[in-house]
Amino acid sequence: MFFNKNKKETNRGEKSISPTKTVEKGMVSLIDVIAPSSIEVDFNSIRIGERFYKTFFVVGYPRYVSSNWLSPVIDFSHSLNISMFIYPTSSSDVLSDLRRKTAEMEATISSQIDQGLVVDAKVQAALEDAQGLTEELAKGIERFFQMSLYITLYSESLAELDQASKRLESTLSSLLILPKLSTLQMEEGFKSTIPFGTDNLFLTRNMDTTSLASTFPFTSATLTQEKGIMYGINQQNGSLIIFDRFSLENANEVVFGKSGAGKSFLIKLETMRQFMFGTEIIIIDPEGEYESITKTFGGEYVSFTPSSPIKINPFDLSGMYVEGENELGLKILSLHGLLKIVMGELSAIHDAILDRALVETYRQKGITTDPATQKKQPPLMEDLYKTLLGMEDSNANELALRLEKFIKGSLSGLFNQQSNFDIRNPFTAFSVKALEDELRPIAMHIILDFVWTKIRKSLKKRLLILDEAWYLMRYEDSASFVYGIAKRARKYYLALTTATQDVQDFLSTDYGKAILSNSSIQILLKQSPTEIDTVSQIFYLSQGEKDLLLSASVGEGLFFAGQSHVSIKIVAAQFEKELATSNPQEVKEMRERDAAQPIIAQEGSSLPQTNSIETPSRSTPPQASNPSPLQQIVDAAVQSQDATSQLIAPINQDISSTPNKDEPEIF
Ligand SMILES: Nc1ncnc2c1ncn2[C@@H]1O[C@H](COP(=O)(O)OP(=O)(O)OP(=O)(O)O)[C@@H](O)[C@H]1O
Ligand SMILES: [Mg+2]
Repeated sequence: MFFNKNKKETNRGEKSISPTKTVEKGMVSLIDVIAPSSIEVDFNSIRIGERFYKTFFVVGYPRYVSSNWLSPVIDFSHSLNISMFIYPTSSSDVLSDLRRKTAEMEATISSQIDQGLVVDAKVQAALEDAQGLTEELAKGIERFFQMSLYITLYSESLAELDQASKRLESTLSSLLILPKLSTLQMEEGFKSTIPFGTDNLFLTRNMDTTSLASTFPFTSATLTQEKGIMYGINQQNGSLIIFDRFSLENANEVVFGKSGAGKSFLIKLETMRQFMFGTEIIIIDPEGEYESITKTFGGEYVSFTPSSPIKINPFDLSGMYVEGENELGLKILSLHGLLKIVMGELSAIHDAILDRALVETYRQKGITTDPATQKKQPPLMEDLYKTLLGMEDSNANELALRLEKFIKGSLSGLFNQQSNFDIRNPFTAFSVKALEDELRPIAMHIILDFVWTKIRKSLKKRLLILDEAWYLMRYEDSASFVYGIAKRARKYYLALTTATQDVQDFLSTDYGKAILSNSSIQILLKQSPTEIDTVSQIFYLSQGEKDLLLSASVGEGLFFAGQSHVSIKIVAAQFEKELATSNPQEVKEMRERDAAQPIIAQEGSSLPQTNSIETPSRSTPPQASNPSPLQQIVDAAVQSQDATSQLIAPINQDISSTPNKDEPEIF
């Protein structure tokens, strides 16, 4: 009968299924693809596909807990799923229960006293807890909840799973948490710890608000903000380190690490990610490493060589008046610093003469401390030279002589003409790689001063990158200038990034230390044994952290933000890696691949084949008929900037028409 009935129903059912449904039934669905081949539920474990799972539930909690008390479980060194279910309970119900319990416990205690027995300490403690809780609930200070906590461990083999379970149990016991295996309910346990939000076990314990708040699991040294860019992965618990540096008290960052530790790589990644969020980028690049990312993002790459068409006049004034600031005075101070680097040690007499000469040079052009005069054309280095010569003093003449290389020597082509360049491109990099080593800090100082003047003119969210900062930090005057920028950057919506491999050099000056303390984000990558003691003293590192920095691999280190720090691993997507790498072998391979691509694209077309490497044009981002994911991101980022006027930087048309004149020197 039963069989027949079933059969009938089946027949009736088949009749009602439409032909399309029948076809659909026979097709492979997504569920078919992702479902495991089998599930085997056992007493103490469940096997899904090739993996074994075991679920624990918690039956007892410690009496007192401190904040973050669950962190040893969160950071447990084996894969696990944790789920917590919190059920708010009506306080009035709990109060009547508590009253009853309190009465019971009081009765127990008084009967023990009557019998002449020692009062049970456990009951006494429980009574005090219950009384305290009753009072707090009645006053509304606390609320009452029920909480269930489940942990599912999983492994490829049963033996490994058993071992991990033992470790977990002992970790939990050390926290005074009493776990139990959900024997015979493994399936329910598993389902309760997958992200469906269903509590199939419903094994709850009572909690008040304070205890519940302290179970919040993600306080274990994570540095994750709601917005910002990703810096890397927290090596301790695998969480992402997402940070918005502009949300901190200042947006500056320092990166320390030995050569090859991954500083420039990290900065390039950050640059790309920041640019996508509409931050303008200005890079000072002493090693010529940032060319490919600048060009990929449609940026302006300005390479300084004596023959380059772009000129910067170090005497430029910002032409803006800030209440309480003496613009000319600050400029003269900065020029004084620069000239000290150019001229070397100066005696007190030399110092005084130079100061006088600088004031006089500006005065001759009609520029004084009156802001109205500061819009006039500034003097040139040559004018200072002439002023010094005109002083008819042997000391002044000696200074003029020391200045000659700016006027007649190797730097004359660069810094002895009126500026003909303006930062209009939202992604601009300045390279001084083509200059001799001794000239680099001078050029960097002049560029930095120029950039700083521009930054102060208009308020925009900007990132200024100073890679290989030790070039500047070696000179006290440059170091003081960089410190000045770091200190005032916040007011101009500027984030300054300084990177250096020479920690000792950087921190040997007070300015270096001050820059460090004015940087909310500090990143330490692999350190050399000679530097580690200095670093650990400054950053108060523990022995474990010292060891971590000594043995770190490329792209690994410590990330400090505000009061917290975590160990970080910097990771890049493939397309980011291709742009950021400075590994000669990888760069060579990419160039070869790029060179090969146009040939593939032209296969079958009638156009002649070429072997040339396609370089993107300076003023527009590269276009492809079938844009790659990277290309789409880059295009979107460039469009998000106010693109129309910003993509061509030089004011002078002659310059923009010969933009690539000096480029071969970069390679
Ligand atoms: N997180 C990372 N993942 C993968 N590769 C990396 C990572 N960080 C750096 N690299 C690689 O390591 C090499 C050195 O990195 P990088 O140029 O950033 O070092 P650096 O610290 O700036 O060194 P230097 O002080 O000499 O400039 C590069 O080839 C880069 O591709
Ligand atoms: Mg580098």
